Amino acid sequence: MDLDSSVGQRKKNRYQKLMVIAGIFMLTGCTGGDDYVGMLKQQVPGHERHITGHFAPIWEPMARQLVQEYDLESLESGIALDIGSSTSPFLIELARLTDMRCYAVDIDSWAMRLLGVFVDEAGLTGRVIPVEGDWQELPFRDNYADFIFSRGTIPFVPDQVRAVRETYRVLKPGGVAYIGHGGFGTLIDPEDREKLVEWRLGWETGERERPDGWDGPGEAMPELARQAGLPSGSYRLITEPQVGWWLEIRKKQ
Ligand SMILES: C[S@@+](CC[C@H](N)C(=O)[O-])C[C@H]1O[C@@H](n2cnc3c(N)ncnc32)[C@H](O)[C@@H]1O
Repeated sequence: MDLDSSVGQRKKNRYQKLMVIAGIFMLTGCTGGDDYVGMLKQQVPGHERHITGHFAPIWEPMARQLVQEYDLESLESGIALDIGSSTSPFLIELARLTDMRCYAVDIDSWAMRLLGVFVDEAGLTGRVIPVEGDWQELPFRDNYADFIFSRGTIPFVPDQVRAVRETYRVLKPGGVAYIGHGGFGTLIDPEDREKLVEWRLGWETGERERPDGWDGPGEAMPELARQAGLPSGSYRLITEPQVGWWLEIRKKQ
């Protein structure tokens, strides 16, 4: 090999190395390996399940169902809360369907930061507000919210009676709370529902492991309300056969 061609070969090798390094940078950038949002997504692994994964078909029909059942569209400046919201796809849908100001509450500060990103991306900045907080000590004044939603969180709260008492304290007279676990709502596409029920019942047949700590009150939900001292007649149990239980609470005007 003469001198010219060996210099040429070295230049080519250097160029190839540079291209490989640039490729690695681009790949880690694109997959969120190094950036802030990528870091948040790694901290909140469940976000994929909610936003694009098997839970994704739940939220729009569930928001639509509750808007219809509780006439939430008629509230011009109403306040909605989602407690234990994680990245709250529910409130993003509710904010699209109504004019309500929506607060997402979760004890997980990473989830609240990631929700802030999703809210901006959805063009709902200021309409859905992430708040870090504990359901057992809600960071809101008495009689504040027109509508309080919570799904899938009550099983994880150490003092569930206190959480129900806090819900009632923050609920505005005339308002409604809808708190529960496991349910997929009544307006979800039947095919999506079938897939989700099959997935959920995987726990019963041993096909899939029940997540740690997932052992909700189920049909005992009204007992929580009774122990929390809520007036009798202000609450009732709503069951979704096999999979879900909701406690509906209405606070009298
Ligand atoms: C299984 S996820 C449910 C997420 C979503 N609501 C859903 O329906 O899929 C439970 C969420 O409750 C939150 N959480 C647990 N204990 C809490 C508490 N004491 N106060 C507020 N949020 C809590 C967790 O951080 C988590 O985001």
